[in-house]
Amino acid sequence: MTAATLSEIAAGADELSVWPASTTRLPHGGLAVGGVSLAEIADRFDTPAYVLDEGEVRARCRTYRDAFPDAEVLYAAKAFLCRAMAHRIAEEGLGLDVCSAGELELAVTAGFPPERILLHGNAKSPRDIDTALRLGVGRIVIDSPSEIARLAAAVGPNGHQRVLVRVVPGISAGGHEKIRTGTDGQKFGLSLRDGSAQHAITRILGQRPLELVGLHCHIGSQITEVKPYLCALRRMVGLMARVRDTHGITLPELDMGGGHGIAYRPGEPALDLTTLARRLRAELVASCAAAGLAVPRLTIEPGRAIAGPAGVALYRVLAVKRTGERVFVAVDGGMSDNPRPALYGARYAPRLIGRPSTAEPRTATVVGRHCEAGDVLAADVELPGDVHPGDLLAVPVAGAYQQSMASGYNMVGRPPVVAVDDGTARLLVRRETLDDFRRRDIGG
Ligand code: LLP
Repeated sequence: MTAATLSEIAAGADELSVWPASTTRLPHGGLAVGGVSLAEIADRFDTPAYVLDEGEVRARCRTYRDAFPDAEVLYAAKAFLCRAMAHRIAEEGLGLDVCSAGELELAVTAGFPPERILLHGNAKSPRDIDTALRLGVGRIVIDSPSEIARLAAAVGPNGHQRVLVRVVPGISAGGHEKIRTGTDGQKFGLSLRDGSAQHAITRILGQRPLELVGLHCHIGSQITEVKPYLCALRRMVGLMARVRDTHGITLPELDMGGGHGIAYRPGEPALDLTTLARRLRAELVASCAAAGLAVPRLTIEPGRAIAGPAGVALYRVLAVKRTGERVFVAVDGGMSDNPRPALYGARYAPRLIGRPSTAEPRTATVVGRHCEAGDVLAADVELPGDVHPGDLLAVPVAGAYQQSMASGYNMVGRPPVVAVDDGTARLLVRRETLDDFRRRDIGG
């Protein structure tokens, strides 16, 4: 391939389609996100580093608000949370879904209004519940029968806590077996099919301190089609009608969870939010009319679709070698900052940044620096044939479930998170250092 065809491809709109909307090309092979050169970020903050485009986060929150004007939108903090993220989410008028005392306390101490927070968890610890009650969390989602009496006792006879019930509607959806949560046989929720959900509802209604305000389901993650949501919604409305028939109460809220799928590589499908919003609304109105139910307020809980495309991971190449038929490009991060390829076979599209290259592209496998052969960040991707140690690679769509799932493996330390916005970069979360590891280690 000639240099001309390569640069023609580089000029194609598609190639940057999964990058933040603010991404621009700089002379000499550079890229800028949020008005800041990625190579400059790598120099200033060192690598590996995670870049968060705050403008992209805001724009995605607004897209949700516009697409779902009547619904409550809660950002799923498990995708990625830090204090700045909590601020951006609060400023955009969204609520928050948390699943631990840690996420909850970080958000509230950053100033997030507790009444706009909802707490999940299939196994809430006493500390989770105490923290939720102490901080005045808006709603708690009950996930198992044993939680009902325990929560009622913790709230106390004079207290009051709004709750929802997590229902398993029996719908299979999601990008990988490990993130499908809509059917029986996995650990979340209470089954609609075997009657556990109905049974739990009856028990909750018998607990004075608990006010049942609605039903919840989350059928899975990285879902790119609307249909599973519509099927789940129909079943949930069916259960709401049964609750009305059995107990004479109309539940005011229906939370359909998150799971909205995004493209990680150019050309991959993503869930269309406008279509999802329109069809969910139509289905909700139609199903409620058929059941003679007042239309409940819809809640949704997107995580990945807000944070994912706003993040870019930056790595420095440490080694390049050919082994057998394969070319390995080894970088200074890996499975400790992004366990998703190893866990779910997730695929990414890394890109050389910071210098121009006219070399022929060749197929290479980008691997990390960790001590196992499964530490692969991106298998069989096209990179310029002259990639060498010292080069910078950038991986788009790195904002969700990477930093939040990062580990201390090999004591490499978790990378920093750098916000970019309007031409400036600032450190949000500093790099984890050997000193951090040493300080936790108090034996000897
Ligand atoms: N609501 C509940 C109750 C959830 O469990 C989740 C995600 C969400 C909302 C947000 O889902 P999202 O919109 O982000 O798909 N670590 C996996 C994803 C696990 C999702 C867990 N629950 C990954 O990296 O793909």
